[in-house]
Amino acid sequence: MRALLCVKAQQLLSRGFIHPVRPAAAVRWQAAPSKLFCSSAPDGNNKPPSMLRHLTSKIKATGPIPVAEYMREVLTNPVTGYYVRNNMLGPEGDFITSPEISQIFGELIGVWIISEWMGAGQPKQLQLVELGPGKGSLASDVIRVFSQLQSVLGGASVSLHLVEVSPALSLLQAQNLTGNRSQEADAEDDLVYRRGETEAGLPVSWYRRLDDVPTGFSIFVAHEFFDALPIHKFQDGERLEGGVGGHRPREAGHAEVCRGAGSDPGLDVARADEKRDHVEVSAEGGVIVQQLARRIIEDGGAALIIDYGHNGTKTDTFRGFKGHQLHDVLASPGSADLTADVDFNYLRRMAGGGVACLGPVTQNTFLKNMGIDTRMQILLRNCSDPSTRKQLISSYNMLTNPAKMGERFHFFSLLHPSRLAKPQKPQGLKLEKKKSPAPLPVAGFTELKFA
Ligand SMILES: C[S@@+](CC[C@H](N)C(=O)[O-])C[C@H]1O[C@@H](n2cnc3c(N)ncnc32)[C@H](O)[C@@H]1O
Repeated sequence: MRALLCVKAQQLLSRGFIHPVRPAAAVRWQAAPSKLFCSSAPDGNNKPPSMLRHLTSKIKATGPIPVAEYMREVLTNPVTGYYVRNNMLGPEGDFITSPEISQIFGELIGVWIISEWMGAGQPKQLQLVELGPGKGSLASDVIRVFSQLQSVLGGASVSLHLVEVSPALSLLQAQNLTGNRSQEADAEDDLVYRRGETEAGLPVSWYRRLDDVPTGFSIFVAHEFFDALPIHKFQDGERLEGGVGGHRPREAGHAEVCRGAGSDPGLDVARADEKRDHVEVSAEGGVIVQQLARRIIEDGGAALIIDYGHNGTKTDTFRGFKGHQLHDVLASPGSADLTADVDFNYLRRMAGGGVACLGPVTQNTFLKNMGIDTRMQILLRNCSDPSTRKQLISSYNMLTNPAKMGERFHFFSLLHPSRLAKPQKPQGLKLEKKKSPAPLPVAGFTELKFA
């Protein structure tokens, strides 16, 4: 099995094609400015944006709201939410992500998915589930690998399931993945709000929530998804809450943060063995990881979570991005992206003991283990255009350089416990003295050897 995987991975990496190289632009993983909870000047327009009006009336009516509610409203309010209304990815938007920087990123994840499907004994069904697919570029690169490795996937029934709250982005994903072969559901409350198929006939379905995705053997991928989920912030054990214009009611366009009164169930989570005076907790992220773990235990499969983050060590990482620049999180809510580093230690705790967790390992380590250098050499060997070569090298550098995305981003995986178990020792007198074979290595987390 291991040999087969290596041969197949090598075959993929040795393909000489070059797809159009995506333009490089700024990323959104820079550190937060040292003081985040400052009120900044309004953006220069006299009329407050409608998100600010919405938040102002909400807070006036019911009092301060937790930071998590502020973040959820700003990002995913069904009418005025940042993700709901915008296409924020790419040079024209607010930030750029790895799948948008280079197709190699998604291709290597495609190889990882196939290797985990093989490691699970090649089940007849393979659901690829992506959480927060953005423009659909990662999924598109993965399914291209699937069609190139069709002979490996054999007769498996493969389907793509996208969990996306944004109607604007889901439309973009549909265009990128299916052309005009997709249709919105007739009923608004249909769990599958859009269906379609790729040119090669692979079925694609869209859902608002992970819970709505059908059960079955699945590989889940979440790239820059968990960092977009709401966080609670605790300072010295007290929850911070957002109030809009509380102390300076005449200043529009910005909000303020105050300490919240009373206790919160999240406080216990934040306080367990806690030495930091400032803690961020994404309860929503915790719930989603628990759902992933339960599904993997019950139906088999794996999850690959890729994000910037830490192992329970960082404090204030909440930040905003607008036009590829850091942006005050409280200024002009709804006009900028909000994000916070992912606490992998917390995710591991929430996953529980029923699944095996691997990582986090740095993006540099994961991509190198997956053979990014070999893939680059092949692409460069087959490319004579100087500007394309330059772009290939610069995107490789952006993804792997420790000072850029190489060490800032991490790969973390949930696996079915059987995946890391030692295969049964063969029975029989003659074989008794032989050692049990080692479990198959998990690509990316261990170096992939080329025979
Ligand atoms: C930062 S973007 C990352 C996009 C893509 N994965 C990439 O790396 O290019 C976050 C994505 O998650 C989606 N999203 C944010 N919150 C969500 C939620 N609660 N449920 C489902 N999707 C969500 C956004 O609409 C967007 O597609």
